[in-house]
Amino acid sequence: MFIKKSKSDFNIKKINNYYFSGSDSLSGSIKVPGDKSISQRALIISLISTGKTIIEDILDSEDVYHTMQAVTQLGAMLRVHNNYIEVKGVGLGNLVTPKKPIYMGNSGTGTRLLLGLVAGSNALVTFYGDSSLTERPMDRVLLPLKEMGARIMCDDSNKLPITIMGARAKGFTLPIDYKLSIPSAQIKSAILLAALTARGTSFVTEYKKSRNYTEKMLSERGVILKNKKINKSKNIISINGTSFIKPRNIKVPGDPSSAAFLAVAATITKKSSITIENVLHDKFRLGVFNILKKMGASINIVRLEKNTCKIIVKSSKLKNFNIESSNSSALIDEYPILSIAAACSEGIMVMKGLGELRYKESDRFKAIVEGLEKCGVDVKSLKDNIIIKGRKKIKGGCTIDAKNDHRIAMSFNILSLITEEPIFVRGNKSILTSFPGFFKTLQELGVISLTHEKKNI
Ligand code: S3P
Repeated sequence: MFIKKSKSDFNIKKINNYYFSGSDSLSGSIKVPGDKSISQRALIISLISTGKTIIEDILDSEDVYHTMQAVTQLGAMLRVHNNYIEVKGVGLGNLVTPKKPIYMGNSGTGTRLLLGLVAGSNALVTFYGDSSLTERPMDRVLLPLKEMGARIMCDDSNKLPITIMGARAKGFTLPIDYKLSIPSAQIKSAILLAALTARGTSFVTEYKKSRNYTEKMLSERGVILKNKKINKSKNIISINGTSFIKPRNIKVPGDPSSAAFLAVAATITKKSSITIENVLHDKFRLGVFNILKKMGASINIVRLEKNTCKIIVKSSKLKNFNIESSNSSALIDEYPILSIAAACSEGIMVMKGLGELRYKESDRFKAIVEGLEKCGVDVKSLKDNIIIKGRKKIKGGCTIDAKNDHRIAMSFNILSLITEEPIFVRGNKSILTSFPGFFKTLQELGVISLTHEKKNI
């Protein structure tokens, strides 16, 4: 596809032309592709490891492809095989200054984590991205990275393109004691990656839990990293500067965020029963399934070996309830698809504390409100809250502009499974960033109304 350059995938070229037009039932068993967060970290951490890492089942998508190209430009040697890739790292402190600027496409995770990594190096790198990534705030990572000694060159907006000179080009990486004002795994990870070369111990305080794969993967590779839990949500991470990252092979489990789209599809359609195999079993990331269960969805999570599970989902009648802002970090990527579930449920759902949604691949706050309204759903926003009144019949019959945002595109395609008239999504191509097989997978689950749209939408 992207990494593996297979020609067999039917939907790459025509993806912009697909839409769903109603479906009664989904059935069968499928696997979701690899977790995006883990795939990107696996590449980035392999780059600074001393020696060879084998990464199995990496997500084959556009975002991961751009991160893969980036780590190659920074000095890693890559070999792509059928179901695994081999990465020969340069070792910590040996990043190469690329000859050309690095293009990150749509990948916010890849960009922010690599900014952190370069901040602690002696390399000089320019990053740029597509129109969506260029609009995303970067000051949230640049601020701590400057404090650690990195030099940044960009315009006043603090957005891409950004040129960064690592702290070790003209000095050394300073340890930091940083308190995260935004609960973000990307900011946390950028600081931790920069802190690897600091002389001494750095501290990152988080006030809301966020995904912790950078911490786990670094610890497993010999970095001295500790968590000091102050209370349920406050945690202080300490990390010691080091000079050596030992390589460790990794098998990437399926992405729970991709699984959520399929789970909602099965829940809102009639007579559906599906099994989603090989999903990463991480309580934090499974939050969306617990919310759906609380809404009345028939969802059974069966834990399997190591860190995976299978998720069995059946059609269900859902009831809305309020989702408090304390959940917002755990559900950050799932609000678009949860809003689709809410639109099809009985009663009112208030989703609270969604301010961060404004800074995702698109302004997701606006995209949810405007998109649902266009489809005929009663929806309102109040400050950082979205209020959705579910209904039995949703009209659809409109075009939704995904604005380069994969999760908005997938969400409105799923809604089209149950609307009276089909919804056309402009910009399905964005789905290639995280779940290139989205349409194919739904087709395998029996969505027969997959149609080639000839009209110019
Ligand atoms: C991610 C963290 C989240 C999430 C993104 C992936 C990561 O972003 O929305 O899709 O892999 O670290 P924030 O850290 O900005 O909340």
